[in-house]
Amino acid sequence: MSHPLFDMSGCVALVTGAASGMGKAMSIAFAEAGADLVLADRNSAGLQATADQIAKLGRRALPVTCDVSDPAQIRELFGRLDAEFGRIDALGNVAGDGLLAKPEEVSMEQVQQVLQNLVIGRFCCCQEAGRRMLKAGRGSIINIGSLASVTALGRGHIAYSMAMGAVVQMTRELSTEWAGRGVRVNAILPAQVLNAGLEARMQADPPLRDTYLRGIPSGRFGRPDDIKGLAIFLASDASPWITGAIIPMDGGNLAQNANGTYTGAPRG
Ligand SMILES: NC(=O)c1ccc[n+]([C@@H]2O[C@H](COP(=O)([O-])OP(=O)(O)OC[C@H]3O[C@@H](n4cnc5c(N)ncnc54)[C@H](O)[C@@H]3O)[C@@H](O)[C@H]2O)c1
Repeated sequence: MSHPLFDMSGCVALVTGAASGMGKAMSIAFAEAGADLVLADRNSAGLQATADQIAKLGRRALPVTCDVSDPAQIRELFGRLDAEFGRIDALGNVAGDGLLAKPEEVSMEQVQQVLQNLVIGRFCCCQEAGRRMLKAGRGSIINIGSLASVTALGRGHIAYSMAMGAVVQMTRELSTEWAGRGVRVNAILPAQVLNAGLEARMQADPPLRDTYLRGIPSGRFGRPDDIKGLAIFLASDASPWITGAIIPMDGGNLAQNANGTYTGAPRG
């Protein structure tokens, strides 16, 4: 039996990064909870696969190919949402990737590219969704940050960390601005969740696997589906007084001091 507060029937959610990983898992979770979806990603084939899976659940899914580093494309995306659905109840701001380069070597163009993708892209989506939600007097925005939003990773993550730090402050500012008008804005900070890029990095540098796992007290990597319950909770009426929250989804990583005793053994 499911609790009615988690029911998203009649809601429309827009999720970026919906072609794979956590964006795909979040989209499917919203559909399983009863919502219809607008799906955005630059990977058209992946988007279509997610849309097909949602259609099998009996929900509507509109896939829109979109590069979130381009505000003009984001505005077109929201235009499609207006034309097809005329409402937005939840936004999942998931798309985006970083770039690895040492701080002493990274070019300003590379830094700008990462900020454009992760900060301007997320903010433009928040602004477009926020305008519509403020008019309706309700809505929930979920921004994906990272451990790198609040701690340093090293390993060439400088541009990514600067961007993800901004995502957390964006979340706090927007939640403070909009809380009194019915719009909630929260952030999820994942630790290492298995995806193609992470697998490739660990293959290129095998000791990295244990480095990651030593930082995760639960003893395993995250899986995209780990985001499902938290995403439904934040997007639905189950969390009406939760806004401005920065929520780790990290198997205990952020709670563990760097010198804390880790009693588990890596379980891959
Ligand atoms: N996987 C992790 O360990 C981890 C940890 C912390 C934060 N994150 C963040 O979570 C988000 C999702 O990660 P994931 O593991 O699901 O990754 P993923 O690679 O499986 O999915 C990311 C999706 O975003 C899309 N994308 C990237 N840049 C885009 C752009 N400019 N426009 C449109 N689509 C774009 C990709 O095509 C892909 O489908 C990312 O922002 C990532 O930085 C990931």
